[in-house]
Amino acid sequence: MKIAVIGAGYVGLVSGTCLSELGHTVNCVDQVKEKINKLKKGIIPIYEPGLEDLIKKNVKKGRLIFSTNTKEAVKGASVVFICVNTPPKPGGEADLTYVEAVAGEIAKIMSGYLVIVDKSTVPVGTGEWIRRTIKNYHRKNIDFDVVSNPEFLREGSAINDFLKPDRVVIGVESKRAEAVMLEVYRKLKARVIVTDVKSAEIIKHACNSFLATKISYINAIANICELTGADVSEVARGMGLDERIGKKFLKAGLGFGGSCFPKDLSAFITISDNLGYDFSLLKEVQKINRLQRELFIKKIKEIVWNIKGKSIGVLGLAFKPDTDDMRNAPSIDIIGQLQKEGALVKAYDPVAMEKAKEIFKGIKYCKNPYETARGCDALIILTEWEEFKSLDLKRIKKLLKIPVIIDGRNMYEPEKVRKMGFTYKSIGRK
Ligand code: NAD
Ligand code: UDX
Repeated sequence: MKIAVIGAGYVGLVSGTCLSELGHTVNCVDQVKEKINKLKKGIIPIYEPGLEDLIKKNVKKGRLIFSTNTKEAVKGASVVFICVNTPPKPGGEADLTYVEAVAGEIAKIMSGYLVIVDKSTVPVGTGEWIRRTIKNYHRKNIDFDVVSNPEFLREGSAINDFLKPDRVVIGVESKRAEAVMLEVYRKLKARVIVTDVKSAEIIKHACNSFLATKISYINAIANICELTGADVSEVARGMGLDERIGKKFLKAGLGFGGSCFPKDLSAFITISDNLGYDFSLLKEVQKINRLQRELFIKKIKEIVWNIKGKSIGVLGLAFKPDTDDMRNAPSIDIIGQLQKEGALVKAYDPVAMEKAKEIFKGIKYCKNPYETARGCDALIILTEWEEFKSLDLKRIKKLLKIPVIIDGRNMYEPEKVRKMGFTYKSIGRK
């Protein structure tokens, strides 16, 4: 099939590449020229394991091209995926102006039956708005369908998530569109849920809000564990083996970040408010998430006392491992507060430092964890990168001014680290 993907960000680039891997001919469009020029030269604008190889392979086979020309991409395509950003407005509501702009562009270009698929995360009812927008802009009375196909990939494991999904959700209003969408995903051999457009749109917000709720729940449990001397990892193990609960998304830490959970939660709360339903449960989930960062600062103060003038080494800046994405990373709140109180911050992240430089000023960026630890009053861990698990802690201890580790990601065995002579604090454990 000939497919156009509009928006070559995390979702568009991964989806477009994976759709070409399935054998489709894909034209990936972005309005940012610099991004497309890089992609044409084989430079991948984001860090995503496995993406570069897959892009190169499919470009070579002539199944994947990049351009800034929506007109060229949509002409001759039988399916167009909208993968543009839907950022939060100051009040939490999703900004749908990018989606509207693309819908308007498609309307002016289409010349035959077309399936327009929304993959961006949007409020319920957006499919209907896209349909209306297209009707308003195009004059030739050409038949078309609007489909909702929410995306569930996670950054860091995006290729695998796309190619081996738990399920594919397709919201359609016609059998014709359903047949086209089943053909798009035929080679995945995945479980496909076919439903109506509105239900598909709600499935996405309901999933992200539920997962965020699970994380806030375990973080609340972590706080109870700290107050009682229990161990949250043991509690999570005991809970997770109940198949009705499941093991995943029960890792206590610094609260959820990233480009999706915080924004989608706010959007879902706003949608509910607008519908006249007070989804107060989700407001509490947000509150617990904010508190988790504040409690971490409190932990640091319990050990280093005054922050002013202290050197704090930070390991990990990205919102989670295996990505360079800094959007809503806990490090932004935590480092921001430490700097506000006068700390001197040194930091290291395996891949996110370039993006971090656009956010933090006055930080000393280091080449590795050891340079970070040198001369610090405390070392704090904000992202659980694999390489931090195997650090030479004896060396770290010698390099630190005071042997203190405050671990926001529960990376080490408390007893072992304490035996080595560290003062060690983690989340929800003694
Ligand atoms: P992103 O900001 O990384 O990428 C969006 C891209 O769209 C940008 O490159 C932007 O330049 C481009 N764009 C905007 N308007 C355009 C236009 N008119 N023509 C061409 N290109 C245009 O965003 P993202 O993280 O890929 O997210 C996209 C959508 O997918 C959002 O709704 C998001 O909520 C959802 N989503 C994201 C993830 C994730 O892990 N990042 C996962 C699932 C769903
Ligand atoms: C999320 C959704 O999982 C994905 O389905 C959606 O399409 C996009 O948003 P992503 O933001 O890439 O994906 O990362 P995810 O692995 O879900 O983690 C989100 C945040 O939750 C991270 O900050 C992570 O550190 C945190 N988290 C996750 C926890 O604190 N504990 C957990 O047990 C799991």
